Formats: sequence, structure tokens, C-alpha cells
Amino acid sequence: MSARQRRIVAWMLVAGKLGLLSIFVASAQTGPALPEGAGRALAERTCSQCHSLELVLRHRMTRHQWEAQLDTMIAKGAKIADEDFEPLADYLSSYLGPSALKEP
Ligand code: HEC
Repeated sequence: MSARQRRIVAWMLVAGKLGLLSIFVASAQTGPALPEGAGRALAERTCSQCHSLELVLRHRMTRHQWEAQLDTMIAKGAKIADEDFEPLADYLSSYLGPSALKEP
């Protein structure tokens, strides 16, 4: 193999690794997003600290149930400020309420 061929092979190996790395980073960063709506940024920020948002997305609950879930998360250590509790309950019950469609 000529020096030039070796350089090309080395370059392709690096490019391949970078490609895999960027796919990995992109999937780790984007993950599932919560439904668009008022309070979404707050919910994404608050609820992605300990587990994937996918866990949140899988559930459909009434407001009462979401409030209980928020209390459970607080008991597990979630830092949810008093003024954020209502907006989170509003968001979750509006966009992940019992009648919200489940993603396939
Ligand atoms: C301090 C860490 C923490 C934060 C922050 C947090 N959770 Fe959790 N959550 C947990 C743990 C721990 C579990 C249990 C995980 C398991 O069973 O694998 C859990 C489980 C859940 C479940 C699944 C419950 C079940 O019965 O399957 C839901 C839904 C959930 N969390 C919603 C939320 C929402 C909504 C938020 C944002 C308001 C949130 N979590 C923020 C720690 C947290």
C-alpha cells in the first residue's frame, strides 16, 4: 500500500468514527420531545433530569393523577419550585391527558 493509500484509509477510519459519534451524540441529545404547548420547556427541563422523557410520554393521566405523580417525583428528589407545580400540572394534563393520542 502506498503512503497515499494509507493516508486515505486512515482518513476513512477517522471519518467513520466521527460519523458514528455524531449519530450517537445526536440521538442522546434529541431523544423524544414532549408535545408542543405552553409549559413544554419547563416540563422538558424538569422531567429529563433523572429519566428519559420517554417515560413521561408513555403516560396519559388526569390532572389529579399528574399532580400525584409530581408529588411522587418530589418525594424521589425532583426539585420543583412551588410556582412551577401548577404550570407543570397544567401542561401535563393538557397535553398528556387521558384523551391525548399516544404516539405509535
Ligand atoms: C429526582 C429525579 C426525578 C425527576 C426530576 C423526575 N422524576 Fe419521574 N421518576 C423518577 C424515578 C426514580 C422514577 C422511577 C423510575 C423507574 O421506575 O425506573 C420515576 C418515574 C416516573 C414515571 C413513571 C411512573 C410509573 O409508574 O411508571 C413518570 C410518569 C414520571 N417519573 C414522570 C415525571 C415527570 C412528569 C417529571 C417532571 C415533572 C419527573 N418525572 C421528574 C425520578 C425523577
